[in-house]
Amino acid sequence: MGRAFGPGRVNLIGDHTDYAGGLALPMAVDMGTTVDLSADDSGRLRVETDAPVEPGWERYVAAVMFEMDLPPGASGEVTTTLPVGAGLSSSAALEVATALALGFEGSDLELAKLCQRAEERGSGVPCGLMDQLTCVAAVDGSALLIDFEKETVRTVSLPDEATVFVVHSGIDRQLVGSEYADRRLACEAAAAAIGPLRDATLDEAMALTDPLLSRRARHVVTENLRVLDFASAVAARDLATAGDLMLESHVSLRDDFEVSHPALDDLVTRLSSTPGVHGARLTGAGFGGCVVALADADVADADIPHASAGMWRVRPAAGARRLV
Ligand code: GLA
Repeated sequence: MGRAFGPGRVNLIGDHTDYAGGLALPMAVDMGTTVDLSADDSGRLRVETDAPVEPGWERYVAAVMFEMDLPPGASGEVTTTLPVGAGLSSSAALEVATALALGFEGSDLELAKLCQRAEERGSGVPCGLMDQLTCVAAVDGSALLIDFEKETVRTVSLPDEATVFVVHSGIDRQLVGSEYADRRLACEAAAAAIGPLRDATLDEAMALTDPLLSRRARHVVTENLRVLDFASAVAARDLATAGDLMLESHVSLRDDFEVSHPALDDLVTRLSSTPGVHGARLTGAGFGGCVVALADADVADADIPHASAGMWRVRPAAGARRLV
């Protein structure tokens, strides 16, 4: 029997870059999932991992157990303070906490990769490593600059005068599997033509003859640059520049990568014109879910435009851990 906690995450900038060997700058949030579980042959959680993809949360537990070579059965309790299905990586939090509760031994990277495989097995979505690695490796008070080509993580501390809001669009981010896989395939097709997108230039992306692939590649190439510029701006406490980069990221995700939704665009527009808010963008896979905003710390919650689906002021939290 073991007990463990995994936090959710919000990505400040750098979306749809992880599976293309790019850069992202996420942070764990101070909400997460606690798993109190033991592997148990007669357990209630008897889930076959090759069932059709329409995942209930139990599938993620079963998938982690499969990846850990444990027989499929467990008893225990799972509780969460995360909104489920909002795009704050509730599944990654569950996977990482499950693996730790069930006695996973190994490095942070091994844990994140095991949970990434479990995510794909559980959901059918060929996701990248960002969510699971953030959940595992997060550091209290900092965001993480992750390089998915080198598989390295650097902390970027957020200045005290900044705060982060997560606003739910009210659109549930469901069944994005095929669209997500389609975007990933487009990046792979572009890379087959011009080489790894991480090393590609804007000119090379623009020279792709297929206009759709060209736009997809342009998003990845420019987004990687924005991540680096954002990290520098935050380090220099230049929130105005950081916010502008978030808006550019949103436009790129909307127009070049086409993963936005009118409800997300509307929220970004309203947040951007709110005094004290420096920038906002869709966060995570897109197609619904949440918008993240960077604001001055003294902005009141009541001044942040949001729908009834939910709004959270989040702070960068520590990564997953075993609990005694
Ligand atoms: C989802 C995936 C991540 C990443 C984001 C988009 O959250 O699980 O791996 O690709 O979408 O940045």
